[in-house]
Amino acid sequence: MAKVLVKNVDKIFDNDFHAVKNVTFEAEDKEFVILVGPSGCGKSTTLRMIAGLEEISSGEIHIGERIVNDVPPKNRDIAMVFQNYALYPHMTVYDNMAFALKLRKFKKEEIEKTVIETASLLEIKELLDRKPKQLSGGQRQRVALGRAIVRHPKVFLFDEPLSNLDAKLRVQMRAEIVKLHQKLDTTIIYVTHDQVEAMTMANKIVVMKDGKVHQIDSPLAIYNKPVNLFVAGFLGSPSINQFKGKIVQENDKTFFDEGSFRVEVFSEMKNKIEKYYEIIMGLRPEDIYDSNFDVMAEFPQKIEAICEVVEPMGNEFIVFLKTKNSNITARFDPKQLPKMNEKIEITFDMKKAHFFDIQTEKRL
Ligand SMILES: Nc1ncnc2c1ncn2[C@@H]1O[C@H](COP(=O)(O)OP(=O)(O)OP(=O)(O)O)[C@@H](O)[C@H]1O
Ligand SMILES: [Mg+2]
Repeated sequence: MAKVLVKNVDKIFDNDFHAVKNVTFEAEDKEFVILVGPSGCGKSTTLRMIAGLEEISSGEIHIGERIVNDVPPKNRDIAMVFQNYALYPHMTVYDNMAFALKLRKFKKEEIEKTVIETASLLEIKELLDRKPKQLSGGQRQRVALGRAIVRHPKVFLFDEPLSNLDAKLRVQMRAEIVKLHQKLDTTIIYVTHDQVEAMTMANKIVVMKDGKVHQIDSPLAIYNKPVNLFVAGFLGSPSINQFKGKIVQENDKTFFDEGSFRVEVFSEMKNKIEKYYEIIMGLRPEDIYDSNFDVMAEFPQKIEAICEVVEPMGNEFIVFLKTKNSNITARFDPKQLPKMNEKIEITFDMKKAHFFDIQTEKRL
């Protein structure tokens, strides 16, 4: 097992495209680290550089105690699982899993023992004689994992391994991979553009955009304290609400004034935002309440809104509201459900409000 350190790594492709910019992060031994960000932000390139499949333009990559910049992929003691898991179609599941060990000239008995152990772990023992085309998507994905596991690598690298699966299977495999991580007790670096995967699976998230790292922290720390507007908007579904407004002082109180509504700023935030004139406020859908049902003594201001669309999710409802200037997404309990086109009054839990500089978009 090993830790991985990516230190000031850059990738400039032959066409001068600067895809990865001074990226630094660490995966501690046995940590599950997820690189997340929009398409094209440099996640796969970063992972491929760790694997040695792509040369780095500058910086250092450490696996365990050694710098691996010049170590060829096969000697880096890593195993990579890709999105298109590319099993050998003419080989059985057993042979697919045994292939890498045969290449490494392991003894037949040893190969058999490892493959069977791994197949039990992944609950695919009864599939060992089948060919890939006789398997479901989820089963194929498990075989691809098995192929990586049999090699007992120090580090697993995953590049969007679940994106070929349907929604239900993805949820199931998410849990399987988390369990697997606990059983194998190994370091995992996992790439996805799916923020739900990042939130639910990782010990640590590295949020990237345009080749740069924006924030590194635990999922909840990032959700609760995003460093800038991009991170705030990227993690969380539905996305955080954003309002543009002015800071107004009146009778010792500080208000955020959006134009069509005005809300008092939580006392602990006052000092940080008082000096600003215009500002962006972020509020997550779950921090908005129908004031007929939830009365917040600390934040009595009510905001008039029209309910435009209601999306039933079963256990909760996503409600799309409109005020004079803004669209607001709220997450309501089914018992508080407004009707379409109904005029309601909402309140904000201002303790949960996030404020961002309008120019730099950084958190205040
Ligand atoms: N060989 C290459 N030559 C030039 N540019 C490349 C090359 N490979 C990738 N890029 C560019 O580098 C950027 C990062 O690509 P990368 O594959 O790392 O993105 P990604 O974050 O994995 O995105 P996705 O979520 O779509 O997989 C992209 O803009 C891509 O077009
Ligand atoms: Mg990619």
